Amino acid sequence: MRKLPDQFLSSGQGGGVIQGTASEAVLVVRLAARDKILRKSGKRSLEKLVVYASDQTHSCMQKACQIAGIYTKNLRLLKADQNSNYALTPDAVSEAISSDLSEGLIPFFLCATIGTTSSAAADPLSALGKISKDRSALIQSLSTNPEYLRNKASQEHAVVDFKDWQVPLGRLSDR
Ligand SMILES: Cc1ncc(COP(=O)(O)O)c(C=O)c1O
Repeated sequence: MRKLPDQFLSSGQGGGVIQGTASEAVLVVRLAARDKILRKSGKRSLEKLVVYASDQTHSCMQKACQIAGIYTKNLRLLKADQNSNYALTPDAVSEAISSDLSEGLIPFFLCATIGTTSSAAADPLSALGKISKDRSALIQSLSTNPEYLRNKASQEHAVVDFKDWQVPLGRLSDR
């Protein structure tokens, strides 16, 4: 692809990868976010991690939580109604986060959707938070390095190892 803005390029902290499916994309970012927060709060705090999304969000959200070991009781599917055109409101998120913090829980993941499957709602992205441009958490979580995948170009960081950006290992490196 040509002429993408700098933040989409892999030359800095950002970068992009095309995942096999939307569900895989949701899963890999969930794993990365989980590992990042657990490195700070300790592995034993898995039970305290909380995820937020609207009740219009696709069920791949819930599936990603199940695979990532997030406790079902800690998935907050916040009600979005016709007053907001079925979009998640920043007020609802703030309220839920405050309540969870007061209970000693750890908010760690907020999912926003543009074009929900059930109602075509668009969650207000900029109001809900800036999208991270740092890919290191993702790669650190999914990285494996068996002998048969090692190569000089990867070791010298001359290529981008897309196997560390997604679930399939067969996606090879690119410059
Ligand atoms: C908003 C949204 N998220 C996730 C998915 C899941 O997509 P996939 O089947 O590619 O995993 C869909 C599928 O319709 C969707 O509409």
